[in-house]
Amino acid sequence: MPSKEAPLSPRTDNNRQNSRLEQRSDGTESSNSAGSVGPVPKAPLIALPEPDLQLSQDSEWCLVKRGTEWRQIRFHDYHEIYKIPGLYEKIFYRVLKCDSPAEIRLQLQAELEKHGVDPLTMRALDVGAGNGMVAEQLTQMKIPFIVGIDIIPEARSAALRDRPTAYDHYYVLDLTDLDTQENEQLQEHRFNCMTCVAALGFGDIPAAAFSQAVALVEPAGWLAFNIKAEFLKKGEKSEFSNLISRAVESGAIEILSQRRYVHRLATDGQPLEYVAIIARKRGELSEFLPSAKPVR
Ligand SMILES: C[S@@+](CC[C@H](N)C(=O)[O-])C[C@H]1O[C@@H](n2cnc3c(N)ncnc32)[C@H](O)[C@@H]1O
Repeated sequence: MPSKEAPLSPRTDNNRQNSRLEQRSDGTESSNSAGSVGPVPKAPLIALPEPDLQLSQDSEWCLVKRGTEWRQIRFHDYHEIYKIPGLYEKIFYRVLKCDSPAEIRLQLQAELEKHGVDPLTMRALDVGAGNGMVAEQLTQMKIPFIVGIDIIPEARSAALRDRPTAYDHYYVLDLTDLDTQENEQLQEHRFNCMTCVAALGFGDIPAAAFSQAVALVEPAGWLAFNIKAEFLKKGEKSEFSNLISRAVESGAIEILSQRRYVHRLATDGQPLEYVAIIARKRGELSEFLPSAKPVR
């Protein structure tokens, strides 16, 4: 069985919708101006660095007020951010205006409609799931079955705390190191859709984990993901860019739509441009990653 899964809240389609709409009790805040985020717990005060301190995306940080102290937290230290209720939403969605889960939803929804696919038939695997922002969007599309995977236990705990009914199952595991039993159990979910939002690049989900996630999706399944635009530009030598370009050239991935958009603002106010991609799986990606570890 995939590691470290404890029971999730029992859930029906109705209570999933309701939990999202009704989590509003004392200590919660309303959504951001874009309306893409549901009610979130009250977060502590934060302070961004001076805008003229131009930080690379991998080294961005902010100060967070805890009691009377201010503590510096690096944006990519997700285990620290998830521990504090509402902090993830506050930094990335309310202050830095992240729009990626909603962007992915709109594009996926448009493609499903175009191809006459009913979202009620979808069984989605959300990779790099964090505290459930993407599941929230998939639920709004009425996708009835959603499984989350993240590599850190703090993400799962935060999802259970913040969106307890967002996922049918949520596994903490490393997709590059699955054993046979874990792989079989994941296969049993018969995923026909995989989402991976704001989790590729920057040492997060490696190409081998992405390829393994695609392997868990049935043939002709839907893939919806985003990545920083510069990681896909011609001449870029990253493992991920290489994987995607070879997969597209060989026909293993059929891209249906891709759109460049502003993922969020950087701490200096500059827009961070990403590409959101909706594709169909037409083959496996493992042949393009000969050094990736096979399932144990
Ligand atoms: C920026 S968060 C995105 C969370 C969520 N998808 C969203 O859009 O709000 C990136 C997530 O990817 C997870 N992650 C990083 N490396 C990973 C890996 N190798 N396998 C699975 N998850 C990973 C992190 O723990 C983090 O929760």
